[in-house]
Amino acid sequence: MAQGLSQQWETYESHHHQTWEKLYSRQRKNLKGKASDLFLTCLGKMQDSLTSNLVPRVDAMEEELHAATGWRLKVVPGLIPVQDFFELLAAKRFCTSTWVRQPHQLDYIEEPDMFHDTFGHIPPLLNRDFAAFMNRFGEIGVALLRAGHDDAVLGLQRLYWYVVEFGFLKNPEGEAKVLGAGIMSSFGETEHAWSRRFTLKQFELSRVMETSFRTDEIQQEYFVLNDLVQLRLELNGWFDQFDLSHG
Ligand SMILES: [Fe+2]
Repeated sequence: MAQGLSQQWETYESHHHQTWEKLYSRQRKNLKGKASDLFLTCLGKMQDSLTSNLVPRVDAMEEELHAATGWRLKVVPGLIPVQDFFELLAAKRFCTSTWVRQPHQLDYIEEPDMFHDTFGHIPPLLNRDFAAFMNRFGEIGVALLRAGHDDAVLGLQRLYWYVVEFGFLKNPEGEAKVLGAGIMSSFGETEHAWSRRFTLKQFELSRVMETSFRTDEIQQEYFVLNDLVQLRLELNGWFDQFDLSHG
């Protein structure tokens, strides 16, 4: 894993800040009435660090995150190997890139940039139940990888995809709202996911783990989750079936 990377905040140019501001303001408005209470509450708490008008400082976001749930951030160049990713989550660390997309990439980028990694992923980590799920997910991922349970690891990756990236979560009133970072950080994905809100599938762990996904086309299936604590307990129950002695 790349060591010691840090954000070089002074090197951002005005177009980076302008792109950030456009992304933030457009999406903040777009999410009204569509994003889960959990996400909006946490995003609101981060207004001083996950700034709307300037590319945010990783250190400031980390401070706020750490005070809330004890998590820290790690700067990475981009996508990292799955083992490294699981290990970070198991150590209560989330990774973020620090590069900001170009102005012509406002609507679509192939690889997640800082807007996706921070605006999409960090706010829910200020919620204790979400953070506890992510931490346990990482611990289980590390254990299953070490023991060579590759099929189970694939199941975990699908779980991540359909919950953390593209999941819906029910609000306390029972209404399905968007939660996943892949939706949160994309204007087009939000519009698309929201248009599918009446065709959501009820989350079932075994079903999600058997549902493949594609990263190169817009989502066709979305699952709605009732409760994050319940999800963590179900994941623990699922994990209990594995023999970890043959690594
Ligand atoms: Fe992501």
